[in-house]
Amino acid sequence: MYNALLTTREVFTLNTNWTPKSWRDKPIHQQPTYPDTAELLGVEKELAALPPLVFAAETRELRRLLGQVAMGKAFLLQGGDCAESFTDFSAQNIRDMFKVLLQMAAVLTFGGRKPVVKVGRLAGQFAKPRSADLEERDGVQLPSYRGDMVNAAEFTAEARRVDPQRLLKAYHQSTATLNLLRAFASGGLADLHQVNKWNMGFVDSNPLRERYTDMAQRIQDALSFMEVLGINSDTMPTLKETTLFTSHEALLLNYEEALVRTDHLTGLQYACSAHMLWIGERTRQLDAAHVEFLRGLNNPVGVKLGPTANADDVLRICDALDPENDPGRLTLICRMGADIAEEKLPVIAEAVSQAGRRPVWSCDPMHGNTHKASSGYKTRSFDNILREIQQFFTVLRAVGAHPGGIHLEMTGQHVTECTGGAYRISETDLAECYRTQCDPRLNADQVLELAFCVADLMRNGRGTSRE
Ligand code: PEP
Ligand code: CO
Repeated sequence: MYNALLTTREVFTLNTNWTPKSWRDKPIHQQPTYPDTAELLGVEKELAALPPLVFAAETRELRRLLGQVAMGKAFLLQGGDCAESFTDFSAQNIRDMFKVLLQMAAVLTFGGRKPVVKVGRLAGQFAKPRSADLEERDGVQLPSYRGDMVNAAEFTAEARRVDPQRLLKAYHQSTATLNLLRAFASGGLADLHQVNKWNMGFVDSNPLRERYTDMAQRIQDALSFMEVLGINSDTMPTLKETTLFTSHEALLLNYEEALVRTDHLTGLQYACSAHMLWIGERTRQLDAAHVEFLRGLNNPVGVKLGPTANADDVLRICDALDPENDPGRLTLICRMGADIAEEKLPVIAEAVSQAGRRPVWSCDPMHGNTHKASSGYKTRSFDNILREIQQFFTVLRAVGAHPGGIHLEMTGQHVTECTGGAYRISETDLAECYRTQCDPRLNADQVLELAFCVADLMRNGRGTSRE
């Protein structure tokens, strides 16, 4: 089939024996056990009849932009909650997340001198893999909490009941979230002229305030200069609009399959629950269902690589998910931990480069750096997070590849879940505002600080923030 809109890789996928349900013939990991399969089937049918959340053309655009990232011409910023929540759902939270992502993107674009591709972990990030099927407290065993799309976090039998109606609730919350994000992206909140105003809430008392306001001032000066040349928000809409793509872990394949749609322009199949889907460290087995599902989609896809990944695995993942070696198709998201990345990543990165592969390399410095504080809170330290990103830049550059992006668990709120950063949050401070549904997130100040460090690394600096 010839179609000018398609790359060879996309045409290739068209010709394989993949179907949206071929994953059902493979072993599958990390799924909840639905007590009533007839009810689950009813929900799948309902989802299949609902409109797609995203359009194929947008998804193709993201894949093209990620192609630029793979070639070193742009940078990927992917971030959001570890897990979205049904109860913590509000316009304010969505607005704060949007703002902080844009603020980071402004710092990275200006400081790192590259366009930034913004991808939220939102409007669908509701399902979580867990280390055990059951959780035990005081001799009582209940099914583990697997995200609001599956059951509820409270430790009661009723809350932990796996309920397929939650799939529909997640769909509807995702549509409401996307609706607001689209309005923000085109309705003025994204205007670069507002960059000074975005910071008002949380940069005011920030120790890095001067650095941020200095950069904001320099952006304003550049805009004023352009204004004199006749370039303003009216003549150049990109100054007031932005694009925020969406992504989540493709964990619950019943849900994902129900939202696969055939694009009427190309005849190709796309997951329409988000622009980009990734699979996690626990579901990336080559012969299993999640790799099979991702294989035939035409979306850009990602795979997490944890400390047990080896070069052979990664090359086989590249063969399975990106047989045409199409830059932008596959993002390898490294999450090894600051102590392990230094030792393991060079071998993998070298093998991938030697094989002539050009994936997007992204660094998730969160999931390999989690530990339990003495108070019992799960936390991550800013210093380890930064150290893993620094190692990632060094290793990728050493093999002639591009350190293409970062993948963060973050929030626009003032939480105290990760330690360190300019405010020096300590382990004893964690109790002050620890609100995550799942993993500890960087707060608005910490991510902004991190953005300065990463911008510095992008320009070959050392990436330290406190100079
Ligand atoms: C996550 O991204 O929230 C996650 C569970 O990641 P990983 O698969 O890398 O553990
Ligand atoms: Co997480």
